[in-house]
Amino acid sequence: MAKVYIKDIGKYLGQDVSLSGWLYNKSSKGKLIFLQLRDGSGVIQCVVFKGDVSDEIFKLADSLTQESSITVGGIVKEDKRSKLGYEIGVKNLSLIQLAKDYPISPKEHGTAFLMENRHLWLRSSRQAAILKIRDEIIFAIRQYFRDNGFILVDSPILTPAASEGTSTLFETDYFDQRAYLSQSGQLYGEAAAMALGKIYCFGPTFRAEKSKTRRHLTEFWMVEPEVAFNDIDDNMDLAEDFICYIIEQVLKNRRAELEVLERDISKLENIKKPFPRISYTQAIEILNKKGNPTKWGGDIGGDEETLISENFERPVMIHRYPAAIKAFYMKRDPQDAKLALALDVIGPEGYGEIIGGSVREEDYETLLSRIKESKLPIEAFDWYLDLRKYGTVPHAGFGMGIERMVAWICGLHHVRETIAFPRMMDKIRP
Ligand code: 4AD
Ligand code: MG
Repeated sequence: MAKVYIKDIGKYLGQDVSLSGWLYNKSSKGKLIFLQLRDGSGVIQCVVFKGDVSDEIFKLADSLTQESSITVGGIVKEDKRSKLGYEIGVKNLSLIQLAKDYPISPKEHGTAFLMENRHLWLRSSRQAAILKIRDEIIFAIRQYFRDNGFILVDSPILTPAASEGTSTLFETDYFDQRAYLSQSGQLYGEAAAMALGKIYCFGPTFRAEKSKTRRHLTEFWMVEPEVAFNDIDDNMDLAEDFICYIIEQVLKNRRAELEVLERDISKLENIKKPFPRISYTQAIEILNKKGNPTKWGGDIGGDEETLISENFERPVMIHRYPAAIKAFYMKRDPQDAKLALALDVIGPEGYGEIIGGSVREEDYETLLSRIKESKLPIEAFDWYLDLRKYGTVPHAGFGMGIERMVAWICGLHHVRETIAFPRMMDKIRP
C-alpha cells in the first residue's frame, strides 16, 4: 500500500493508500465514525463504517482522542462536499500513541494560554497556514536575490560593538572580552558589498526592546541587501521591486493559506509598482493636517506610521529624515546637511515600518567624526573605517524585518504569531 501525503491524495483516486498523522477532530453518527486526520500537508476526512471493518478497528476508532497519532489504511474516494475534494474509506487503522488530555480543545482559548502552549498551538490550521506563508516569503526572498545577481554573505551574530544604538544591546561574556548579539548585519554587509558588489545577509538579529508593542520582538529575522554604487533612488527602486516580488509569489503559491487566515486578498493584489515616495517633511505635513502634533525633527512612531498609511493603498516610502534622529553611518543629503539619505518603507493597513535603510557615508573623515560624535568605541570600528580608506564608493542598502512582513501579508494583529517561537521582553518559554 502506497505511503502518501494528504496534499497528493488526488493522484491516488480509487487506490488503497496508507496515511500517517494526528487526529485533528472526530465525530460519529450511528455506524459511522468520521476522523479528521492531519499530516502537516493537509487535513482529510477518514470515514470508518462499521460494516467495512472489524469490531476491534471500530472500537479503536471510537476510542481515539484529539492529537493521538495514527496510521490509516483505506481507499481514496471523491467527496465533492469537502474542500479537499477527497475522503478515505477506512479499511485499516493502527494506533501509534493515544494522546491523553490534549490541552488545546477546539473551543476558544485566550492568547496567554495559547502562547504558553505555543509548542502545541503550532498544530492548528491557522498557525500552520502562517508558518507556510512565512516559508514562502523566505523562499521568495532568496529566489529574488539569486535571480538578480546578489550573493548571500552571512554576517556574524556575536559582535564587538553596536550598530543600531547602544540602548538595545544584549551583552554576553566572550572569554575575557565583552560581546553583543548582532542588531543588524549591515556593517559586515558593507564590507561584503565592497568585495562582491551586490550582496545580502539574512539572519536572526537581536534587540533588547523594553517596549511591549505588537510590532516588536527581541529576536527577529532581518534580510539586508547592500549594493555598491547605489544611490537613494536605486535603493527605493530595489525596495519596491523586492516587496512586489514577494507578494506576487505568496499570491501565486499560498492562496489557500491566505484563505484559511481570512485575509482580504484584494488588498494584497493592489500592491503594484510604483509606490508613493514622500519626504519626511511631507510626512510631517500629512500628520499635522490630520491633527497629529509631531513637529519637524520628531520621531515618526507606530501611531504616526498608521496615520500616514491611511492615505495610501500601497506601501509608502519616506525618504530624507532629519540626520539627528538617524544612525551615525547614514550619508547626509548634499542638498541639505540637516537631512540623512534615509529610507523607511511603511506598510499599508497600519502594519508600520517594514523596511529601514539608507545611503551610507562613504567619506573617511566624515564617518570618523560621526563615530566620535556618537561616542562609539573607535577601536571597534577600525575595520569599518578601512572600507573608506581602500577604494571607497557610494553604496546603499536596507533591512527588512521578516516578522513585520509576515504580519502584514497574513493580516495578523501581533508579530507574536509570525514566528514559531517568538522572543519578547516577557517571553522566553517555550
Ligand atoms: O530600521 P532598522 O533598525 O534598520 C537597520 O537595522 C539597518 N541597519 C538595516 C540596513 O540598512 N541594513 O531595522 C530594519 C527593519 C525594520 O524596518 C523592521 O521591519 C525590523 O527591521 N525591525 C524589527 N522587527 C521586529 N522587532 C523589532 N524589535 C524590530 N526592530 C526592527
Ligand atoms: Mg528603522
